[in-house]
Amino acid sequence: MHAKFAGVGHFVPERVVTNHDLASLMDTTDSWIVERTGISERRFVREGQGTSEMGEQAARAAMKMAGVTPSDLDFIIFATLSPDYMFPGCGVLLQNRLGCATIGALDVRTQCTGFIYGLAVADAFIRMGMYKRILLVGAETQSMGLDLTTRGRDIAVIFGDGAGAAVLVPSEDDGPGVMETILHSEGSHAKELWMEVPTCLVPTTRTPELVAEGRHFPQMNGREVFRHATRRFVEAVDEVLERVGKTRDDVDLIVPHQANKRISDAVGERLGIPPARIVQNVQRFGNTTAASIPIALSEALQEGRVQPGHLLVLVAFGSGFTWGASAVRW
Ligand code: ACO
Repeated sequence: MHAKFAGVGHFVPERVVTNHDLASLMDTTDSWIVERTGISERRFVREGQGTSEMGEQAARAAMKMAGVTPSDLDFIIFATLSPDYMFPGCGVLLQNRLGCATIGALDVRTQCTGFIYGLAVADAFIRMGMYKRILLVGAETQSMGLDLTTRGRDIAVIFGDGAGAAVLVPSEDDGPGVMETILHSEGSHAKELWMEVPTCLVPTTRTPELVAEGRHFPQMNGREVFRHATRRFVEAVDEVLERVGKTRDDVDLIVPHQANKRISDAVGERLGIPPARIVQNVQRFGNTTAASIPIALSEALQEGRVQPGHLLVLVAFGSGFTWGASAVRW
């Protein structure tokens, strides 16, 4: 047995924040943002809405499609870099919100690659026979943690809020489902894209000094991220295809982490895969980190771009650095 997607859903907050809205807060322009990232708008939560609340909305949509109720679930995996609290994680908050039985709830902290890592764990548990109905969620509240001034403009214009979810169930080996997943990390690049505070390396009494220095905002070496991302996305697609004995031509749809349109365009060009076979919605939602793949998959399903028998590659790269890919037969 292996895991197949029984349901997929997504949720984005109502509030649309355009590039022009950001230009009223910082020294930037719509044309700079569109040219560098492809992003025109993103969604921001209302204060207090938070990651577990959005995760619940996406989870309910995925469960509806799968035809299951919270009491049918036997495990929760929650991927996020923007949890409601330092601890406990969003997994247990979601268990409580859904009113599930006292099932296990695991939090995944691999940033943009969170959904792929979570999918690998869910697939492994299902292959082992340990669980039969796993809820996998990727959700992010970026907006509350961004420096929305000119100092933080390189990062602030890229990210958005949202959530996506999937219900995974067992499927026969030769039936639809996850064929293979590959996972990688390279921690020597941890500080190329990171957020240092809150930290447990120094006493909390020193936090105000760190906050005064802006070290509680995400920091990014954009050029290094771009360079590594374009290389690792391509490698990950090729590696997972090789594992399942397929080629780039066999792929019906690539569902990449929505980092930045320029990154996805460059990856498509290097792979020789035309834009029609690469899902891109970063233009409307910005980069929603662990939520971006399930949101993109959910939209692609709604648009009829995913059909039974299709070969999909879900692929991500992000902070860590971490990267990975899953080959999925729909
Ligand atoms: N508006 C206007 N000007 C800006 C902005 C902004 N929002 N942000 C930075 N600038 C300025 C810089 O200050 C710099 O000014 P200077 O020349 O006076 O010093 C100038 O624009 C050029 O900056 P560069 O960093 O050289 O611009 P670059 O062309 O490299 O583009 C970018 C920056 C868009 C961040 C690019 O490096 C990139 O796409 N990197 C990938 C980052 C990414 O996608 N991260 C997503 C998260 S990681 C992931 O999900 C995989």
